[in-house]
Amino acid sequence: MDYERYDRVRAVIWNGNALDLLDQRVLPLQQTRVICGDVGEVAQAIFDLVVRGAPAIGIAAAWGLVLAARRVEAGSGSEAAAALVGATNQLNEARPTAVNLAWALRRMNAALASAGANWRDVLASEAAAIEAEDLVANRHMGQLGAALIAAGSGVLTHCNTGSLATSGFGTALGVIRAGVAEGRIGKVYAGETRPWLQGARLTVWELLQDGIPATLIADSAAAYLMSTGQVQWVIVGADRITANGDVANKIGTYALAIAARHHGVKFMVVAPSSTVDMRTASGSEIEIEQRSESELLGYAGQRTVAEGVRAWNPVFDVTPAELIDAIVTERGVVLRPDAQRMAEAWNGVDLS
Ligand code: MRU
Repeated sequence: MDYERYDRVRAVIWNGNALDLLDQRVLPLQQTRVICGDVGEVAQAIFDLVVRGAPAIGIAAAWGLVLAARRVEAGSGSEAAAALVGATNQLNEARPTAVNLAWALRRMNAALASAGANWRDVLASEAAAIEAEDLVANRHMGQLGAALIAAGSGVLTHCNTGSLATSGFGTALGVIRAGVAEGRIGKVYAGETRPWLQGARLTVWELLQDGIPATLIADSAAAYLMSTGQVQWVIVGADRITANGDVANKIGTYALAIAARHHGVKFMVVAPSSTVDMRTASGSEIEIEQRSESELLGYAGQRTVAEGVRAWNPVFDVTPAELIDAIVTERGVVLRPDAQRMAEAWNGVDLS
């Protein structure tokens, strides 16, 4: 497919000297970039959601470690890894649910462990590889996922899983890009994704850049939309997929899966294998990130809820495997996932 035409936005750019991030807090009204010159700035940008989306967080953290390495004097990779423990922890703690963060940092440290005097080059090459492999995986998943969709289907997506959330093309949004390009998807709906509005502020903007028309709905309109027969698939990304096929993703995903099953709408999860956490048995073991009440109690710095009201703001939920029709990774498609099918699909994969 014509990737240039369908994939124009880039959120995370290593400019050779610093990490250049498209500030997702202010999109789409402002398109400003935040330049991170040290690891503390990268960790803060991840925590503040300047950069967000599981794969993009992992990629940013990898480059954050490259920045941290500048302050380290070491004769070998293992010496450097020991000196980078603090920076690794600082990045790891920025957000807890998306496993790509820990995965990328583990991979960077593993590369260091076997590196010699050229460990700085090894570290930078590993970060570049993590970024490049993500784009390749996304394009492949786009083809695999789109192949499941019958021509002329309507789809609903949640949060932002596009180029803004990855090194490019996106996961669920990659399937939607490929599905639109192939004529399989006739209509795209995006939920606004309260409270941070990844759908309303990011997804429909990103699709607009690529000439893909998308219709925004209030999250609370999803079940009714399904009841009208206008969508055949809900397609979402993931922040962590556990060994039994449970999926942690943006808050509201679980409700969509329940509504989809009730209406006979199929439910697809699209994520690279860097999001699959075979070390964790089930979704109940995943730490769910809680964010500030202020995300619910006001908008754009302005309080909209009466003073004195408290809020509960978990930003992810867990969709049980039994509500999922297909998990698509670059390794292939797992239909009706469960522990056995996941184990078969991940058989022989190095989990170190
Ligand atoms: O809080 P966010 O915006 O980082 O949450 C993002 C999501 O939940 C995405 O669906 C997920 O990370 C997959 S992005 C390809």
